[in-house]
Amino acid sequence: MAIAGGIAAYKGAELVRLLKKQGADVRVILSRGAREFITPLTMQALSGEPVHTELLDESAEAGMGHIELARWADLLVIAPATADVIARLAHGRADDLMTTAALATAAPVAVAPAMNQQMWANAATQENLILLTQRGIQIIGPDQGEQACGDVGPGRLLEPAQILQALQSRFSSRQLDNKKVVITAGPTVEAIDPVRFLSNHSSGKMGYALARACAEAGAEVTLISGPVHLSPPDRVRLLSVTSAIEMHDASIQEADGADLFIGAAAVADFRVSNPAREKIKKNAQPDLTLTLVENPDVIAAVCQLARRPTLVVGFAAETSDLLSHAREKRVKKGLDLVIANDVSDPHTSFGSDQNAVHLIGALSEQHLALASKQVIAEKIVSILAERLSEPAAASS
Ligand code: CTP
Repeated sequence: MAIAGGIAAYKGAELVRLLKKQGADVRVILSRGAREFITPLTMQALSGEPVHTELLDESAEAGMGHIELARWADLLVIAPATADVIARLAHGRADDLMTTAALATAAPVAVAPAMNQQMWANAATQENLILLTQRGIQIIGPDQGEQACGDVGPGRLLEPAQILQALQSRFSSRQLDNKKVVITAGPTVEAIDPVRFLSNHSSGKMGYALARACAEAGAEVTLISGPVHLSPPDRVRLLSVTSAIEMHDASIQEADGADLFIGAAAVADFRVSNPAREKIKKNAQPDLTLTLVENPDVIAAVCQLARRPTLVVGFAAETSDLLSHAREKRVKKGLDLVIANDVSDPHTSFGSDQNAVHLIGALSEQHLALASKQVIAEKIVSILAERLSEPAAASS
């Protein structure tokens, strides 16, 4: 792991601690600039290894030289990476230990940028980033928000835990390699007039966590999402939709011939039959009556496709009689599996970061106890991958 000079260098120290906690062997390269912010001694204490600082340092080269260091790593992560480091990487420079190691390693390279928002927005930086991406270098972040210099905007180093999560995807299982997965997520929004709508409290977190877990397991993932405040996970194709009809049409097109379809969206059951073209004025009428018509059932339509996905998995978010409602929904919609969760429980209600679910199949049921939505998603994906690998078991 390499740390470049910047105020965010201290977060690099935290990332080393988190990587060690995950069981990784970490060797740290500190640039000259980074040493103005953080000492080699700190990094040595955190990594439990000697810290590498110079490209050509007799004593360091006698231990592990720069080429050996580059060969030793399974992954090189540069966090924080300044605009200058990104520029030097883009141009293949080898003028310090960090950039030389990046050139000399056969391991994947990941870069977590941190810089002033104007420097981030500069065309030179953006063009350099495109070059790095084209060469397969993973760009992690940056985050948005208040900066050390007082500016507000993109350029903050992501939190170490988020960088760790992105790095872990590099070492993910390949359980869903070559599988095509389509996931719906979030709410749908049904217009009343150009400024008002009907919708629900779905945050999209569970669907996005599933999309991330499927991508990390090697799947080709299409995420059909209603309006949410979440960024799509890496390597996931996002199709943004608004209404249930749009979600239906996108799902029918994308799910055709897919291996796995997961309906995690909270699709609005009804839409306004005739949304007003102009904003409805309250003075124009003392009462307002909206006529609602039923929306198509997206997941039931996916089950009717001629080239139905091998596994179709729905959700049942219930406030009472969780298991019996969920079992009924599985049969009524023709699903292979229903994932039932109790949204009346504050730990697992809409918008929560945690969930506890029951997986309900035709022949077996399984409970996954309260955990973060990401952990629950990973467990679900592992179970689904196992079922997909035994086609005869798809409906068990
Ligand atoms: N679903 C769907 N299209 C709809 C309604 C629901 O695809 N128009 C999917 C959801 O994505 C979920 C499952 O069906 O996977 C169950 O959703 P839920 O809202 O619990 O079921 P409903 O059929 O709407 O039943 P109810 O609202 O009466 O409980």
